[in-house]
Amino acid sequence: MKVKVSASVLDCDFLHLEDELKAVVAGGIDALHLDIMDGHFVPNLSFGVPIARAVRRIITLPIYSHLMVIHPERIIDNFIPYSDFIVFHIEASEDPDRCIKKIIAANRKPGISLNPDTAIENLTPYLNLVDDVLIMSVYPGFGGQQFIPTTLDRIRRLRELRNKLGLQFAISVDGGINTENCRTIVESGADMLIAGSAIFRSSNYAAAIQKLKCSTS
Ligand code: DX5
Ligand code: ZN
Repeated sequence: MKVKVSASVLDCDFLHLEDELKAVVAGGIDALHLDIMDGHFVPNLSFGVPIARAVRRIITLPIYSHLMVIHPERIIDNFIPYSDFIVFHIEASEDPDRCIKKIIAANRKPGISLNPDTAIENLTPYLNLVDDVLIMSVYPGFGGQQFIPTTLDRIRRLRELRNKLGLQFAISVDGGINTENCRTIVESGADMLIAGSAIFRSSNYAAAIQKLKCSTS
């Protein structure tokens, strides 16, 4: 199956948000990725509900809200109306089961994310409950960072675990992905690539998106 590409709007020109969104949709993205940062779980602030609401008004593709916030259970409800998938961090929640149940009860799809130094095995109790596992390939908080190479082995191990358990969740990878390294990431087992700077800092969004998508052909 061809890899999916999702655009992280963190690096877009917010003065022209509508044009930026239309350009990445026209360029062939499969989904949109909203990076919600609280300045506590990660050392940076981004945006919140007003931007998510504005984005939802013109985006019919799946929207993934990536919550980089401490105690995500507090704010999941706020993002439900504007998201198809809600992805929270295992490190940030005292009760991942409760987060997952909250998301499912609202008819949205749950995803769980983990930082580069969190063991893949920590996810095991939740893997049969989620639709998406988001492997961070940078320490979250900023766009434009370098891909951490040990992520490749983590993708492979998660894929093996998925096979062993006979599960269906998607494996998404987020951070430092570009048109040079995308092929190895897909070959390691990623189902979805999330890219911010590789798209929004390029001179031709559609060309960048197509290069990221064709990374196995
Ligand atoms: C990092 C965010 C990523 C990031 C992707 O904290 O979760 O989604 O913005 O941006 P690039 O592709 O520039 O690493
Ligand atoms: Zn993200």
